[in-house]
Amino acid sequence: MVASKQALNPSARDFVPERRSLASLRQAAKTCEGCDLFRNATQTVFGEGPNHASVILIGEQPGDMEDRKGEPFVGPAGRMLDKALDEAHIPRHEVYVTNAVKHFKWIWRGKRRLHQKPSIRQVTACKPWLEAEIEVLRPKILVCMGATAAQSVLGKTVLITKERGKFIDSDFGRVTFVTIHPSAIFRQRDKEEQKKEYRRFAAEMKLVQHKLQSLAAA
Ligand code: URA
Ligand code: SF4
Repeated sequence: MVASKQALNPSARDFVPERRSLASLRQAAKTCEGCDLFRNATQTVFGEGPNHASVILIGEQPGDMEDRKGEPFVGPAGRMLDKALDEAHIPRHEVYVTNAVKHFKWIWRGKRRLHQKPSIRQVTACKPWLEAEIEVLRPKILVCMGATAAQSVLGKTVLITKERGKFIDSDFGRVTFVTIHPSAIFRQRDKEEQKKEYRRFAAEMKLVQHKLQSLAAA
């Protein structure tokens, strides 16, 4: 027997339900085996936020804390994000926060679980969840935080340093904005650099807020 293409090329598409709402997607994603990442993770970390959110913020994948709690951006990167959203007057409970990949990819490093970047294959496998979230929410603005989110949404490799801070068109036909991943702020060498990077990230969140206001007024 010839193996089907789907069996050879597993993806979340085989797990996305026909009838779609945020609740049905979230439920179905709990048992997703669309790539190998479900094996080592504690649980699926699905997106969170209201049905009416007009902004969707997309990160890379859950981290150690998110994997334990089952919620996106609740660790150190989440605190950085919350602070920037707060400064930009974007209430976190008004936006939908999710990730390009819904399971935590990691390896043991001593006693710590060290984050590993998901492969393009894993990002592609998980994309049906992100597409379904966008389809249900119909947000006005997609904010890609970092290279993995941008890769998934734009369908190509992008240089964050080059594309950040701009509103661009995407596959999904909505306004897309690229910024850095909040974890990149921690990776800066010294405190001054971190401060500078944070200021730029917060300023970019303000641009999102302004864009949202202008779209609402249009
Ligand atoms: N980093 C991410 O990309 N997503 C999270 O949910 C947490 C950290
Ligand atoms: Fe499914 Fe995405 Fe998890 Fe892979 S990472 S098992 S595609 S939810």
